[in-house]
Amino acid sequence: MKAVVFKGVGNIALEDVPNPQIKDPEDAIIRITATSICGTDLHMVRGTMPGMEKGTILGHEAIGIVEECGPEVKNFKPGDRVIVCSTIACGQCVFCLAEEYSSCDRANPNGPEAGTPFFGGPKLSGPFDGLQAERAHIPFADTVLVDLPETISDEDGLLCSDIFPTGFMAAEICDVRKGDYVAVFGCGPVGQMAIASAKLLGAKQVFAIDVIPDRLARAAEQGAVIINYDEENPVKRLKELTNGFGPDGVIDAVGVDAQQPHAGPAKGNAVKDAMNIVEQKTVAPWAVLFGGQWRQGDAPSQVLQWCVESVRKSGVIAIAGVYPQTAKFFPIGMAMQKGLTTRAANCSHRKYIPRLLQIIEEGRFRPSQVLSVSSDMGDVITCYKNFDRRELGWLKVELLPGQSRQAA
Ligand SMILES: NC(=O)c1ccc[n+]([C@@H]2O[C@H](COP(=O)([O-])OP(=O)(O)OC[C@H]3O[C@@H](n4cnc5c(N)ncnc54)[C@H](O)[C@@H]3O)[C@@H](O)[C@H]2O)c1
Ligand SMILES: [Zn+2]
Ligand SMILES: [Zn+2]
Repeated sequence: MKAVVFKGVGNIALEDVPNPQIKDPEDAIIRITATSICGTDLHMVRGTMPGMEKGTILGHEAIGIVEECGPEVKNFKPGDRVIVCSTIACGQCVFCLAEEYSSCDRANPNGPEAGTPFFGGPKLSGPFDGLQAERAHIPFADTVLVDLPETISDEDGLLCSDIFPTGFMAAEICDVRKGDYVAVFGCGPVGQMAIASAKLLGAKQVFAIDVIPDRLARAAEQGAVIINYDEENPVKRLKELTNGFGPDGVIDAVGVDAQQPHAGPAKGNAVKDAMNIVEQKTVAPWAVLFGGQWRQGDAPSQVLQWCVESVRKSGVIAIAGVYPQTAKFFPIGMAMQKGLTTRAANCSHRKYIPRLLQIIEEGRFRPSQVLSVSSDMGDVITCYKNFDRRELGWLKVELLPGQSRQAA
């Protein structure tokens, strides 16, 4: 079958690989009908999420049809239409029973302290082969798969595999309540879902910060007040917009590849530049420069700094953007002095998906509105490159593996 394979930092390819096989009685094999590219995949190709093993199939977002089930799979049978949870969980350990699926004690082959296991990630996360393929092996199928109701489109289902739950988790751990002011840093796909989710939880006003014009425009269409950090100082502007207090909650939907402003009043100085270089070298000392492609962020803790500076005293910071274990910079002094609550997590997809499917069925939100490109799997490398460069119109890319199979 065809799959997107990690070959090294800055090097991915669509290759022929063997079909997946059932390994354990709780496994299933699915045929993937749609998959997508995520900002998390970019961290891995850029080298800022280290430890990828060559040969790992990338991707952790998909829907599909069950083809085969191990003897202990109870909830699914061949032919079922399913959403795959990006994160892998056993469903039975003490953490899973508490719905803390991303902290599952059993699913990570590296042990209970190794971190969240997920599809298509680095060695420490499994490694598990990913979902940008024609078929996939699904461990703990009864927990990792969720039935996709007929009433919900493929596109809405696909976005429930990772980013709608992640945006919703971000708003929930940000403790968003009715009437709150909430700032979302990053207007990529996850940021867009966080904006929508903050509104679903009752936020009075959402502020959205980024630099990419069409992503900011999309946030404005969702009703957010937008701030371009190359034109305005986001911390100053957020204070102005909230009577000098700062938002009640702020969400980091950017992660380790954060950029610093390259123009405008928040643009850096020599001291900040030097600190950014130290941070970059600490986070990813092995990073390779590929010109304009696969460019790592030039200020890994920029968004964390802005979150702490801008949120009101006693406010909440929710970190959904991904940081690797090598990222060590957070302004703890200011956070402590302001009495902030800071929460960070990989999403427990299994916990949120049923609730979000209901929100879609009730017509309250359609996550598929963020999908801007639908492409044949055969063009996946071009799609990755355009999404990596944040080309205009490349907000979220859906890939259709079936199409390339038919074409082949
Ligand atoms: N916690 C989870 O379970 C989980 C799940 C999915 C994705 N993620 C993470 O969420 C993050 C966002 O994912 P995405 O797919 O939207 O990625 P993306 O790369 O498409 O979007 C990131 C956005 O952040 C913007 N940005 C960069 N520097 C900024 C700054 N200083 N201030 C404001 N905006 C800035 C970029 O212009 C871009 O639009 C990634 O780190 C991804 O790994 C986390
Ligand atoms: Zn994702
Ligand atoms: Zn578990």
